[in-house]
Amino acid sequence: MSLQNKIAVVTGAASGIGASVAQKLADAGATVIVADVQADKGETRAATLRAAGRNAHYLHVDLTDAASVAAFADAVQSKYGAVDVLVNGAGWGSAHPFLEGTPELWDRMINLNFVGPMRLTKALLPEMVKRASGKIVNIASDAGRVGSMGETVYSGTKGGLIAFTKSLAREMARYQINVNCVCPGPTDTPLMAAVPEKLTEALKKAIPFRRLGLPDEVADAVLFFADDTAKYVTGQVLSVSGGLTMAG
Ligand SMILES: NC(=O)c1ccc[n+]([C@@H]2O[C@H](COP(=O)([O-])OP(=O)(O)OC[C@H]3O[C@@H](n4cnc5c(N)ncnc54)[C@H](O)[C@@H]3O)[C@@H](O)[C@H]2O)c1
Repeated sequence: MSLQNKIAVVTGAASGIGASVAQKLADAGATVIVADVQADKGETRAATLRAAGRNAHYLHVDLTDAASVAAFADAVQSKYGAVDVLVNGAGWGSAHPFLEGTPELWDRMINLNFVGPMRLTKALLPEMVKRASGKIVNIASDAGRVGSMGETVYSGTKGGLIAFTKSLAREMARYQINVNCVCPGPTDTPLMAAVPEKLTEALKKAIPFRRLGLPDEVADAVLFFADDTAKYVTGQVLSVSGGLTMAG
């Protein structure tokens, strides 16, 4: 696979799955824009990639803030031109019974997991459309395909992202722009570390492979969609979950 001379934006690239995606895309030759709200961790991630001979730069973005997303998109496009690959990776969820959720928690999840990717995609797509090329990969969750106990609103945001992916794929097909979705199952990242150990053990028992996924395993699926290997694949949803879900 080769992403030589490609510009790739990866949101949430300071940590977990996004960090692995940034690594894989940079290893494949892309210039990676590490896009994250955590400046220190984002700078460190980009510096680590550069120290290994890769091309990577950190740019701050808060996906829950429309002005920040607009400023980020302007900064990227004025410096690097059109983006070739956009990976909407940043996301967050909290596990609690639906009836104990608060409007503040709902807003946080909806704004980060659904509105943020929508805004950033809208900001970067026009240049892709002009060039009639581009790849968009959204990181949703198996929770959005089959539901997840205690993650009702999170699941809703991810289900929305899946439906967004499919509809956008239809609209963008005429421009030869691919839009696909990767759905991780429980994956060993800092986000997962916040889950109580008892629940993590129960999840492992439910996963046919009997272990959590690794960020690299999710990143490999993202790399597949980001590369021309998948140029005739669009509107697809790929679970990387050790067989936890086998939805059609
Ligand atoms: N880890 C899992 O088990 C799992 C399972 C299914 C889906 N996912 C999804 O995978 C993606 C990555 O999750 P992860 O486990 O690597 O999480 P993580 O917490 O390790 O990383 C998330 C990154 O998003 C960034 N971020 C948070 N809010 C932001 C904002 N407002 N603007 C910009 N960046 C922001 C964080 O700073 C962090 O670097 C998320 O979309 C998550 O919903 C994770």
